[in-house]
Amino acid sequence: MSKMEVKTSLLDNMIGVGDMVLLEPLSEESFIDNLRKRFDHNEIYTYIGSVVISLNPYKSLPIFTADKVEEYRNRNFYELSPHIYALADEAYRSLRDQDKDQCILITGESGAGKTEASKLVMSYVAAVCGKGHEVNKVKEQLLQSNPVLEAFGNAKTVRNDNSSRFGKYMDIEFDFKGDPLGGVISNYLLEKSRVVKQPRGERNFHIFYQLLSGASEDTLRKLKLDRDFSKYNYLSLDSATVNGLDDAAGFRTVRNAMQIVGFMEDEMQSVLELVAAVLKLGNIEFKPESRVNGFDESRVKDKNDLKEMCELLGIEQSVLERAFSFRTVEAKLEKVSTTLNVAQAYYARDALAKNLYSRLFSWLVQRINESIKAQTKSRKKVMGVLDIYGFEIFEDNSFEQFIINYCNEKLQQIFIELTLREEQEEYIREGIEWTNIEYFNNAIICDLIENNQNGILAMLDEECLRPGTVTDETFLDKLNTVCAEHQHFESRLSKNSKFLTDHSLPHNCFRIQHYAGKVLYRVEGFVDKNNDLLYRDLSQAMYKANHSLMKMLFPEGNPDKVNLKRPPTAGFQFRASVSTLMKNLQTKNPNYIRCIKPNEKKAPHIFTDSLVCHQVRYLGLMENVRVRRAGYAFRQAYEPCLERYKMLCKQTWPHWRGPTRKGVEVLLTDLQVPAEEFSYGRSKIFIRNPRTLFFLEEKRRHCLEDLATLIQKIYRGWKCRTHFLLLKKSQVVVAAWYRRYAQQKKYQNIKRSTIIVQSFIRGWKARKILRELKYQKRCEEAVTTIAAYWHGTQVRREYRKFFRANAGKKIYDFTVQRIMQKYFLGLKNTMPSMSPTDKNWPARPYQFLDGTHQALRRIFHLWRCKKYRSQFTEEKKAIYEEKLEASQMFKDKKALYPSSVGQPFKGDYLEIKKNPKYQKLNSAVEEKILLADVINKINRANGKSTPRIFLLTKSHFVLADHKTGQVKVSVPLSDVTSVSVSTQSDGFFALKLKEGSTSAAKGDFLLSSERLIEIITKLYRTGSATADREQLNIDITDEFLVQFKQDKVCVKFIQGSPKNGNSATCKRKNNRLVEVSVPSP
Ligand SMILES: Nc1ncnc2c1ncn2[C@@H]1O[C@H](COP(=O)(O)OP(=O)(O)O)[C@@H](O)[C@H]1O
Ligand SMILES: [Mg+2]
Repeated sequence: MSKMEVKTSLLDNMIGVGDMVLLEPLSEESFIDNLRKRFDHNEIYTYIGSVVISLNPYKSLPIFTADKVEEYRNRNFYELSPHIYALADEAYRSLRDQDKDQCILITGESGAGKTEASKLVMSYVAAVCGKGHEVNKVKEQLLQSNPVLEAFGNAKTVRNDNSSRFGKYMDIEFDFKGDPLGGVISNYLLEKSRVVKQPRGERNFHIFYQLLSGASEDTLRKLKLDRDFSKYNYLSLDSATVNGLDDAAGFRTVRNAMQIVGFMEDEMQSVLELVAAVLKLGNIEFKPESRVNGFDESRVKDKNDLKEMCELLGIEQSVLERAFSFRTVEAKLEKVSTTLNVAQAYYARDALAKNLYSRLFSWLVQRINESIKAQTKSRKKVMGVLDIYGFEIFEDNSFEQFIINYCNEKLQQIFIELTLREEQEEYIREGIEWTNIEYFNNAIICDLIENNQNGILAMLDEECLRPGTVTDETFLDKLNTVCAEHQHFESRLSKNSKFLTDHSLPHNCFRIQHYAGKVLYRVEGFVDKNNDLLYRDLSQAMYKANHSLMKMLFPEGNPDKVNLKRPPTAGFQFRASVSTLMKNLQTKNPNYIRCIKPNEKKAPHIFTDSLVCHQVRYLGLMENVRVRRAGYAFRQAYEPCLERYKMLCKQTWPHWRGPTRKGVEVLLTDLQVPAEEFSYGRSKIFIRNPRTLFFLEEKRRHCLEDLATLIQKIYRGWKCRTHFLLLKKSQVVVAAWYRRYAQQKKYQNIKRSTIIVQSFIRGWKARKILRELKYQKRCEEAVTTIAAYWHGTQVRREYRKFFRANAGKKIYDFTVQRIMQKYFLGLKNTMPSMSPTDKNWPARPYQFLDGTHQALRRIFHLWRCKKYRSQFTEEKKAIYEEKLEASQMFKDKKALYPSSVGQPFKGDYLEIKKNPKYQKLNSAVEEKILLADVINKINRANGKSTPRIFLLTKSHFVLADHKTGQVKVSVPLSDVTSVSVSTQSDGFFALKLKEGSTSAAKGDFLLSSERLIEIITKLYRTGSATADREQLNIDITDEFLVQFKQDKVCVKFIQGSPKNGNSATCKRKNNRLVEVSVPSP
């Protein structure tokens, strides 16, 4: 166990006392008070040392959960409050770890909770032992054997709705690891009388009702049964259905459980067939038939049930029928057959039914054992669970009670022996001085019953086997003689005459003082029940059945193995099995569960003192406590003891460093506990009186209170402190954050302000510095300038003598020269073409050369014009001169001019000299002809035009007939004073003559020619070439006057649309006006 785990104790939070050993004072009253107190608080378990007393709560309590299993797992017995799990855990662990075989003995009266307790033990062990597929299968089979046995062996009784009607002992086998391997079940004394008759308010075994309620129609048909309880004599009807018990569901559970346990389908079928056969058997009835000898002979009344039963089991009907009417007695090779009367027939029938059922039950147990048998041969550890009926004291006690009580007597004996032996061994083990323990040993009672010579059972057997008439009375007589002297035997008519006047003791009864109380037995039925007779004819009939299971159940019916010996009596059998059981138990370590029934009503919360008192008495619980307390009431290992009480002594609190035993010694000495009150064992402290323990407990409780206060104080302090520290921490955090935030804000403000102030100051400073710097710079510049000038002056003054005064200019000139050179060289490469019309000229490189550049351009242009001109011949030159003259005269003045520019001034268009037609004319003109052409002469009188040849020489112009060449007029050029032309595109021109000259007789000439420009230009040139002549006037106007004879006539040019095409027309309007209309341009 880890040190951290909280160590608890049985003594914690105890209601009453958890262990009766500690009960102080010990009396029956306080014992029962303690039980009641605990029961009222749902504490159904109480210890007597290591014995568990269990009260039936009659309600489900939340203490059987998986969590509880975990809680009790691997804990020491006294660590937790009393529980059946603690016992189971202790048993399982000492089985597993100390290799001690265990048995768990569960006793108590019917309905006290024995079977439930045994199931709890088994389920606990199943929960804590190993896991795995195989292991789980084994566990499942072991657990599922319960429902099967309960269906066949349990019945509703007035005491318990699910009362086990047989004793059961189950060995669970484990391997060395503690994993379950398998099991062996032994059954004891099934209450078979129940098969044929049930007391009022009780039922037959569950299986009958389950079969009829839960089986399918098909199954019922096969079994020849009807789903109706009332049809069967053996089923009591008044309580056929039980509240809270679902028989149909029960049937399914049983079938399922049988399957899990390993029953084959045909086995299950056979079992059900036998169950059905029992029911059928109950319905067979008999009627008397008179015989000649005066006796009645029984006959089967209605053969239908008999027939069906025989069909079911494969029995020949006649055989069975005969067996119910006759009885064969074989004695010494002699067969005597006697008839049966009706009563005997009924007896035989019931005996058959009882035997059939009880043998079926035993077979079931055997069959289950086969399934759950451990598969290995290796050594096994065993845990036995005994669920056997407890002591029974009824109004009317019979053979069964006698047997049962005998069994309990034996169990008590073994308990005493084992507990005392254990106690003794513990003292020796622990080295404690042995104190003699006084207790009541019931061996003497056992002896009274089982003694081979004069025991009651032996007497009974003797009576049963004795020839002659044997009755229950003869048996009692026998007892009266044999057992009369026995202390524990009482009978009215015994030889010991002290009971003669005891009226509580009827004549047909005897009384035994059992260890748990006196019980009165009525002898009626003892002999019969002990004999347990089944007529041989019946068993033979059964053996003949064509039904393998049936055959198996009645081996004595085999005719080949006729056994003339009587079968052993019931009492004998029981005694034998009890003695085997006892031997078995003696080899094991016992663990006791004592079940007590708190009330007769099967109801929760009711605690009937008298009933409990009765059970406490007959279970011998007070005995139990006394035995337990005979030596030392309480013992505990040193370690848990020191652990529990160490706070009672300063030296051991809070830690004891030395050995634990020493610690306990110091502790007890310190507490001044009287030395006779305790003993130091090797590993345990033994406390004689519970008072001492309670003294310790009380002290501990006080101490714990103080400690609790202390712990509380410290805890509260701690809690407050932690809380405070937490608050403080939080506050610091909050404050820190807030301060940080505030400081941040403040800082930011300051920073912002600072920056503003700073910026102002810096600005101011910077401006100041800038001012200073500017001032400084200006000073420096001034200084530099002054210095430069000064230095310049100085240098110049200094170096003037070394340089010529105009060196600068030279350099300048040189530089300019270089620039110019470069300019000119550049220009050379980019010269435009020589064509005078080329307008290209390279861009100027320097602005200062602008003038030069433009000048050069002009020069270049003039130069190339000159060059161009210089290529001309004299003739061409004259032509151009003429052209130039014409341009100077008419350009921009006369609209006709532009059309003349492209025409070469050919002069002689008529080729007068070559043309023979003009020979006469040619000869008339001596001088060189400058111009010859046909022109129109305007008639002065009417303005009509006539073609004339116009000739121009150096001195004259001549007008001749254009056909004949006859000269009409020849006018010297010196008489021509001016020429008038219009500004327009017409070819009219007027040649004005000098007044008074001969030529002027007729007046001025008005002529028209397309070559006006050429004519007038040549005319003009002749004038300029001659020195003695006045320069000809050229008059360009749209209105001019001409002299026609005596009249001064105005020639007026108007723009209009002439009638004859594109040429201008002339018309004399009146004597003062000649109108020339010129087509608009
Ligand atoms: N621990 C328990 N918790 C709840 N009910 C119980 C407990 N023990 C017994 N009972 C009730 O008492 C009835 C009888 O118990 P049972 O074990 O059959 O008695 P016994 O075997 O002693 O005759 C059970 O059917 C059940 O209702
Ligand atoms: Mg039971």
